[in-house]
Amino acid sequence: MTYHNNILLDVFSGDEISRPPVWIMRQAGRILPGYKRIRSAVSGFKELVKSPDLIAEATVEPLEVLGVDAAILFSDILVIPEAMGVDYDIIEKTGPVFDNPIRSVGQIDHLRKGEEVLPKLDYVFQSIEVTREVIAHRNPLIGFAGAPWTLFAYMIEGSGSKTFSRARKFLYEEPDAAHRLMDAITESLIAYLKEKINRGCDVIQLFDSWAEMLTEAQYKQFCIPYISRIFEELPEVPKIFFPKGAWSSISHFKGMAFDALSIDWKTPVTYVREQLGANQIIQGNIDPALLYARPMEIESAVHEHIRLTGRNLIVNLGHGVYPNTNREHVKVLVDAVKEYRY
Ligand code: CP3
Repeated sequence: MTYHNNILLDVFSGDEISRPPVWIMRQAGRILPGYKRIRSAVSGFKELVKSPDLIAEATVEPLEVLGVDAAILFSDILVIPEAMGVDYDIIEKTGPVFDNPIRSVGQIDHLRKGEEVLPKLDYVFQSIEVTREVIAHRNPLIGFAGAPWTLFAYMIEGSGSKTFSRARKFLYEEPDAAHRLMDAITESLIAYLKEKINRGCDVIQLFDSWAEMLTEAQYKQFCIPYISRIFEELPEVPKIFFPKGAWSSISHFKGMAFDALSIDWKTPVTYVREQLGANQIIQGNIDPALLYARPMEIESAVHEHIRLTGRNLIVNLGHGVYPNTNREHVKVLVDAVKEYRY
């Protein structure tokens, strides 16, 4: 499939492109007026996430308002714990809260896993089809999921946390059960992502937002084998891996079957290039707080970032855009990338 704006897919095929592609993590959300309108018209986040027509609207808005090169299907990483049997809610100002987090080893063996989760996720697959129709041939569509450890962390902890100490305690106290849970999540993610690709996602991103909580040894033992399996078992579409804050593990990523490594703003591009070579496609890694600066500063920082990183780059932030960011400043970033020429 080739789109009118195909630049995101071109960077993966190694085609000569005149500028890097750009999209923004969390582009479909509270920085946009249409999102706020859609969000206030439903009873809560979960109703929105299960309404294919509204999802299509939220997904397409950043293409139109911000002019980004790709859409990311509006959803959440927490749809997987829910489909496995650990239900969540999003509470205003608190974040995710789970009714029945995993509190005993026995619970793990009763979770749905692998293809058993698919019937519970039909609303996501329907949303892909509706969204694809609305975008038509304009842009590629990114589908995403949380990586096993990040989902594990929420399922054990039962909420967000500054330390995820309960989830980390579990790794020390119950290593065998921890591997069983990582395995069940992995099987579910493989079935889910395969179906997302079948139904029309062109690119897949795996968010390991809480990678930074683990030691290098734990990341190697509890995460890399599962993430490797996911990337290996998915069909041939471009795959982006975002292990936030896991710079200490970068040397272990050699040979994994992802195509782009998304890095946070504290991980130096030069270090990644040293470790993984000049051909490694890097996504990122602009500080989300740069968007609070004046437009001229944003523009020059973005141009400097592209000059320093060179080719094999997808411009993005180092993490999701902060909800109180001025969307005009996001547009300054996007426009600065679009006017750049290598
Ligand atoms: O990128 C996009 O535009 C697609 C939308 C998207 C959402 N969640 C919508 C959302 C994406 C990619 C996610 C991923 C996600 N969800 C991650 C990984 C990325 C990251 O930021 O590290 C994580 C850790 C979650 C879990 C989650 N969902 C949290 C912590 C929260 C509450 C915090 C917050 O941002 O409000 C959510 C809820 C959520 N997911 C909202 C949105 C727009 C806000 C809720 C609302 O509008 O009521």
